[in-house]
Amino acid sequence: MRVLVVGAGGREHALAWALRRSPRVEELFVAPGNAGTDSVAVNVPIKASDIDGLTEWARGNEIDLTVVGPESPLALGIADRFGEVGLPVFGPSREAARIETSKVFSKVFMQEEGIPTADFEVFQDFDKATAYLQKCPFPLVVKADGLAGGKGVSVCHVRQEAEDALQVIMEDRVFGDAGTRVVIEECLTGQEVSVLAFSDGQTVMPMVTSQDHKAAYDGDKGPNTGGMGCYAPMSLMTPELLDEIQRRVLQPAVDGLRLRGLPYVGVLYAGMILTPTGPQALEFNCRFGDPETQVILPLLRTDLADVLEACVEGRLHEMTLRWSKEASVCVVIASGGYPKNYRTGYPISGLDEVADLPDVQVFHAGTALKDGMIVTAGGRVLGVSAWGDTLTQAINRAYCAVGRIRFRDQHFRHDIGQKAFTEGVGM
Ligand SMILES: Nc1ncnc2c1ncn2[C@@H]1O[C@H](COP(=O)(O)OP(=O)(O)O)[C@@H](O)[C@H]1O
Ligand SMILES: [Mg+2]
Repeated sequence: MRVLVVGAGGREHALAWALRRSPRVEELFVAPGNAGTDSVAVNVPIKASDIDGLTEWARGNEIDLTVVGPESPLALGIADRFGEVGLPVFGPSREAARIETSKVFSKVFMQEEGIPTADFEVFQDFDKATAYLQKCPFPLVVKADGLAGGKGVSVCHVRQEAEDALQVIMEDRVFGDAGTRVVIEECLTGQEVSVLAFSDGQTVMPMVTSQDHKAAYDGDKGPNTGGMGCYAPMSLMTPELLDEIQRRVLQPAVDGLRLRGLPYVGVLYAGMILTPTGPQALEFNCRFGDPETQVILPLLRTDLADVLEACVEGRLHEMTLRWSKEASVCVVIASGGYPKNYRTGYPISGLDEVADLPDVQVFHAGTALKDGMIVTAGGRVLGVSAWGDTLTQAINRAYCAVGRIRFRDQHFRHDIGQKAFTEGVGM
């Protein structure tokens, strides 16, 4: 099988790493990739947003399966375009991807399908939205409708904060057209969990659950990031709870989309919050999570190429997913200053030293090759994943490797995985 992975981050390195282990994958390409994917696959210098370029290249190179990492090419219709020219692709169509790319679509869809989610209102008029705040209890949550790079959501404790959020989204248009409409919703409390699932449009199968650490600093302090680390399985998850999420969230979503003429092929990622009255869906994403993928795939025992192919061919029901009983963790090492301003181009040392550590795998997120050296090239630079019989063992292994990696101004959280012990049942 000749496989192409689209994207350039840690998620795509993890996908390429897992696919490389499949005996069925003869040739593996990543477009555009990074210095890490370069060691397991052939990097193809085409940007993930260049849909024409990717289509032409995949056709010319007789690609049997394309796996799309990020949401942006899906929002641009990569799956539709590949489909038109007969190229098998793992990832939803542009319309089906609206489950992530439009919060309004997603919330209305959840309401129509009876999927448990926070109560909400939609506004496209700034004055009406502001007026609505007068009669709302606080805290509440303001969300820009469209893609906003993880910055379009504000949890507001007082009215002024919510007015400011509306101003930024609807009037200043900081997120462009993503701010034409807003969702104002009830604020829920509880632990968050990422439930990713494989879908072939009919059958949906959850993966091992995980918990992300979004804040930049220890103790969940500081600004929100793309994710500073993750662990799996999520400590509060039980087979019963996962079954409930499957029945009340994942299956109704896949069924509801199919009934709307939007068969959903790809990863359906439910961002859940475990409230005192039960699990509620905060949002859907239309692709693998980053860094969730870097803790999930090391635990997958079934051949990933087989699973993805079964999804694309509409026969996921034939598959059984097998998972390791181990726990895993991923610690992100970022550039100092991230998620705000940071500098790149610094050489990274210690990668050779950790390359042979057992049960540890470094996934590159923002790296590049410069004059034969691996240098920093992004906000999130590396994701150090490790696994073990217990979460404690996995955490110790990961931080042991993190301690050997160095680059100028590096920053990482020291408490990745601790949520499992402080707020959950622990391991
Ligand atoms: N209704 C809500 N109640 C409490 N917290 C929320 C709610 N909606 C979102 N959040 C918080 O905001 C974060 C981002 O919201 P989300 O809907 O996942 O948007 P995105 O990931 O697109 O920025 C969530 O992970 C959660 O921490
Ligand atoms: Mg989210």
